[in-house]
Amino acid sequence: MKIFLDTANLDEIRAGMELGLVDGVTTNPSLVAKEHCGFKQRVIEICELVQGPVSAEVTAVDTEGMLNQAREISGWSKHVVVKIPLIPEGLRAIRQLDREGIETNCTLCFSLNQAFLAVKAGATYVSPFIGRLDDIGHDGMELIAEMREVWDRYGFKTQILAASLRHPVHVRQALLFGADIATMPYKTFELMVKHPLTDKGLKAFLDDWEKVKGIV
Ligand code: E4P
Repeated sequence: MKIFLDTANLDEIRAGMELGLVDGVTTNPSLVAKEHCGFKQRVIEICELVQGPVSAEVTAVDTEGMLNQAREISGWSKHVVVKIPLIPEGLRAIRQLDREGIETNCTLCFSLNQAFLAVKAGATYVSPFIGRLDDIGHDGMELIAEMREVWDRYGFKTQILAASLRHPVHVRQALLFGADIATMPYKTFELMVKHPLTDKGLKAFLDDWEKVKGIV
């Protein structure tokens, strides 16, 4: 499973890349707004840092508008993946962009039927929003499990990008249920490595080593 960071913050992306374990980045208009930066400039900066897939979202809600924005955004870097919302206008745009060879991430997916339509339209990635389903009392991860089963049955090529992950348990479940990619906030990525028993064990080893290291 690939790891993407869900952020438009350059420091977070730099830190993730330094570790060498981050494969890509997803952004959305809310994440860009949090940074108070220019959209184009920031997407280009992120692409330069990541050198891997970077999702950048259109804001038009009509097909023509989405297509115009998608063509422009995809010209900013070879790493850009254009994020398109899962609405009828978006599916039409994805279908056309697929014909033009422009990679897309179909976003705001909340059901298996929606995900299937994204596949039919030719999306490169589809992003089921797990945390937001949990927020309204559903079990978001059930959607990943359903998708994996159906994907394997039919051999769908669209990649399952588990999104709206909020904590390490979500990442663990995404792994168990077979997502192709998990995109997560930097905080969640940082928490994945932490375990109190690792820290406790390391401290005990180092304390014991102090007692014997001078003995020849
Ligand atoms: C995914 O691409 C989205 O940017 C993101 O995961 C949404 O997460 P949220 O529901 O925590 O805002």
